[in-house]
Amino acid sequence: MQNSPKRFTITAALPYTNGPVHIGHLAGVYVPADIYSRFQRIQGNDVAFVCGSDEHGVPITIKAKKEGITPQQVVDKYHAIIKQSFQDFGITFDNYSRTTAKIHHDTASEFFKKLYEDGKFIEQTTEQFYDKEANQFLADRFILGTCPKCGFEESYGDQCESCGTSHNATDLINPKSSITGNTPSLKETKHWFLPLDQYEPWLKEWIVKGHKKDWKANVYGQCKSWIDDGLRPRAVTRDLDWGIPVPVEGADGKVLYVWFDAPIGYISATKEWAEKEGKDWEPYWKDENTKLLHFIGKDNIVFHCIIFPSMLKAEGSYIVPNNVPANEFLNLEGNKISTSKNWAVWLHEYLIDFPNQQDVLRYTLTANAPETKDNDFTWSDFQARNNNELVAIFGNFINRVVVLTNKYYEGIIPEPASLSEVDIATLTQLKAYPSVIESSIERYRFREAQAELMNVARLGNKYLADEEPWKKIKMDEERTKTIMFVSLQIASALAVLCEPFLPFTSSKLKNMLCLNEEQNNEESLQWKDVSTKETLIPSGHKIGKGELLFSKIEDEQVQQQLDKLEATKKANKVMNANPEPKKETIQFDDFTKLDMRVGTILEAEKMAKTKKLLILKVDTGIDIRTIVSGISESFSPEEVIGKKVTVLVNLAPRALRGVESEGMILMTETPEGKLVFLNPDEEAVINGATIS
Ligand code: 2FM
Ligand code: ZN
Repeated sequence: MQNSPKRFTITAALPYTNGPVHIGHLAGVYVPADIYSRFQRIQGNDVAFVCGSDEHGVPITIKAKKEGITPQQVVDKYHAIIKQSFQDFGITFDNYSRTTAKIHHDTASEFFKKLYEDGKFIEQTTEQFYDKEANQFLADRFILGTCPKCGFEESYGDQCESCGTSHNATDLINPKSSITGNTPSLKETKHWFLPLDQYEPWLKEWIVKGHKKDWKANVYGQCKSWIDDGLRPRAVTRDLDWGIPVPVEGADGKVLYVWFDAPIGYISATKEWAEKEGKDWEPYWKDENTKLLHFIGKDNIVFHCIIFPSMLKAEGSYIVPNNVPANEFLNLEGNKISTSKNWAVWLHEYLIDFPNQQDVLRYTLTANAPETKDNDFTWSDFQARNNNELVAIFGNFINRVVVLTNKYYEGIIPEPASLSEVDIATLTQLKAYPSVIESSIERYRFREAQAELMNVARLGNKYLADEEPWKKIKMDEERTKTIMFVSLQIASALAVLCEPFLPFTSSKLKNMLCLNEEQNNEESLQWKDVSTKETLIPSGHKIGKGELLFSKIEDEQVQQQLDKLEATKKANKVMNANPEPKKETIQFDDFTKLDMRVGTILEAEKMAKTKKLLILKVDTGIDIRTIVSGISESFSPEEVIGKKVTVLVNLAPRALRGVESEGMILMTETPEGKLVFLNPDEEAVINGATIS
């Protein structure tokens, strides 16, 4: 019996509209969110699946400056491209909105005002970084510096992309303006802060005590570590000219921090949808029985598990998320996906090269989803997944069933004779799959769920291979009818069970089998029928003609994609070879202040609990000293021992994660982002030799 329908509010991270969307977005957020939403709708549950474009924030203004257009032009352009890509890939948002919409400006302003009036903010005048040359305050991505937590040297003002820590800009070591490269000065300005420290006891109770088991280990671990480190008030306003104006007196020239307004975008997208549908939006956000879920990438965890829930709690009438199934990152051919380096497979370009093959990409990305660790997308794996799994297993089974049914019975499903033990065992196995797949989806294990789906196709293939209807037709027509009847039951089950993962294939297959496609129509085949009904597709029903569900991907197609990436690498090299000067001119005297020496790395070890840092012992010729270097993702400790390197020896010592670092090893990087040492290749050069 169907339980009473549950209500779900499912959100997918609002993408920044400073570029199109790529496979990393799809794999990390949108495909899993779509599988989950489709699945819940199939179960008859009440789902609001919402998303929209994140159109404020510094990345948009940086892009606009670069392209010489207005921020509004930037967001209009990419909002249209992104929205189309999601639609093309079958992401079934109930509403895809945008944060420049009036409904969002109103909703975010009201939210801020309510917190302001309830005295939930601290109003404080503090010193913030200011670029005198650019004549502006340096919020968020307008400032770069060394992350105080992990030592990454290009951390943004509000968040370190390397370790994910969210911090205040003034915490950065060696801050630099990303506009002019200048060292910023400090200037007083008034802002409103959300005192996260006040929510710490509640967060502890809610996350640390409440969600130990059902949240993913990576999400729970990050939250616990932030809470354990101690939370501090965070400014929720900025001195910028692009964003939602701060809706209170005395806030001219100030806007809401993009991470304050963006998650409220989920609420405004729900409101906009409810208005169109003639529904009430409030139960989706305020009824304790609603399951609120945020699908995001790992860089967004702090905002969805700490900051946004604290905002909702401060407002007082909202529910907080039931789960935040964040994924790790997807790399491309061994390198980090990067919009600025064009190292990506863009969704709109994929569809030009592989028209109508959305499901192949959805399938590959789910099979390789970065659920528990970063994963790599390679074109050869894409080809293998298609050719060896979708074509050879799923497609092959369906093709044989449909072709033989047409050939032997003119497409009319035959009457079975009595079922053999094998038939009964096969159909019993089939009935178990819906709950196996369900259980994986409910635990956000989409790779596992999809693998189980493929086991249904394997079950069908094995059954056909063992029973060989193409041989039996010659000697036992009755037995052949039964075999084909059983095979058609498996094919019908596949059509229904593959819908969340491979929606285009499901639709094609339902068409081919002439199954009524409509969801929740009493007549149509339902997910639960696979385990409860004896017959999924009856004798006497006529199916349609065969059509290939998947086609082979040839080596040339893969090579074409690899060539495209190779061309990107070359283009990046050329750009790197002619880089624009980024920093201000210095005098010869400034240069002579640098004491750079040849040194040799004697010892190296990984710093515990960090991804990037190695603790090195370096012989500088002057002394043997400790240097902490952020190179651990490019080198293992063993690889660097004995390397001759260039060392800046008179850099003031500073502590990184409690270890005092006395100098800096000079590095550069390849266009693919791999770090390399600047090392003297002349053997005769000895430690301590000066560099001038
Ligand atoms: O990281 C990002 O791409 C952000 N634009 C995600 C925002 S999610 C939200 F809260 F809206
Ligand atoms: Zn960091």
